[in-house]
Amino acid sequence: MKSVKSILKADIKGKRVLVRVDFNVPIKEKKISDNTRILAHGETINYILEKGAKKVILISHLGRPKGKIKPEFSLKIVCGELKKILARDITFFNDCVGDEVKNGISKLQDNSVCLLENLRFHPEEEKNDESFSKELAELADLFVQDAFAVSHRAHASTVGVTKFLPSVAGFLLMKEVKYLSELLLNPVRPFVAVLGGAKVSTKISVMSKLLKKADILLVGGAMSYTFLKALGQNIGSSLYEEDFIGNAKETADVCKNLFLPEDHVISKSPEKPDGERVVKSIPDGFFGVDIGPETVSKYSSIIKRAKTIFWNGPMGIFEVDDFSKGTQKIAEAIAEATTAGAISVAGGGDSVAAVKKAGVSGKFSHISTGGGASLEFVEGKTLPGIEALMEE
Ligand code: 3PG
Repeated sequence: MKSVKSILKADIKGKRVLVRVDFNVPIKEKKISDNTRILAHGETINYILEKGAKKVILISHLGRPKGKIKPEFSLKIVCGELKKILARDITFFNDCVGDEVKNGISKLQDNSVCLLENLRFHPEEEKNDESFSKELAELADLFVQDAFAVSHRAHASTVGVTKFLPSVAGFLLMKEVKYLSELLLNPVRPFVAVLGGAKVSTKISVMSKLLKKADILLVGGAMSYTFLKALGQNIGSSLYEEDFIGNAKETADVCKNLFLPEDHVISKSPEKPDGERVVKSIPDGFFGVDIGPETVSKYSSIIKRAKTIFWNGPMGIFEVDDFSKGTQKIAEAIAEATTAGAISVAGGGDSVAAVKKAGVSGKFSHISTGGGASLEFVEGKTLPGIEALMEE
């Protein structure tokens, strides 16, 4: 089987190294609310410095500024956090290409680190423009791709640049590929997948893949209401996707390894708790907001017997404390199974936030930094940013 070219084989000493990171971090009230993605690149950046690189040039996107300079998407905010994490000085440049950046970098001391401004301030980045890719490549002698989370995009900084520079994968990207590939290629059985979140439509392809690969698929969250509606159950005012009813019915009828919630926490409002009510059948005027205690107990005992677990998507509206118990308990069950020897992988933005809220992130084998990228990987799609790093 082909594998990605590894940073371990790269000659780094004395080189200017361009490193694609994913510093697309959540920002609330002008503050970084979660620095996990910044921390995750520490190993690669420190390794490049230890190996005696001449310069480390970090490039990233932040948000979706759509090719325009928008101050609220400036990476400057990340620079401060990165300085703290790496405990060293970092030079920030107000652009990612152009003479000023080129000259500025050439004046930096040896073994220094700099961060360039948001790649997506240039429309050429997302168009995978050749001259823009070349301009980025001209800043360096070697390219290290560490941004797994954006590797499902064919952009200048993920694909284009690899045509002009020797290119290798950093430690974070390799770790992501290792854990996610093991799930698909060689999972220790029983392999239990837990899928939640709002929409069947965004999860349908990952679901069909997992139904083939996993021994059991446990479904929760709002997406379960589309299945329950398809099976003729009462779901009250709960959200469901009319367009997917047919698909859901077919899947639920055919797949004997698919489990759906058997009881539900309900509320008159999906935002405001109005006293906990648990039901088997959701009455009109109520929303399903979490899986109920019987479902929690059934799912937890299945999870605790698993040897491989993949989790994507919360079991309810976990952002509201009163509706977060189901998600919390599932996170705890996965953590317990991991302590007992199972391999556990969580992928997708919301599940990662849920694992953190449950306070068990340290107990998972791997928490993917990729949202869309980890889903596409598990679906079996080819990720262009990874394909560009394959050994010949
Ligand atoms: C992510 O947050 O999933 C990645 O940074 C990719 O961002 P994008 O969906 O805006 O391309």
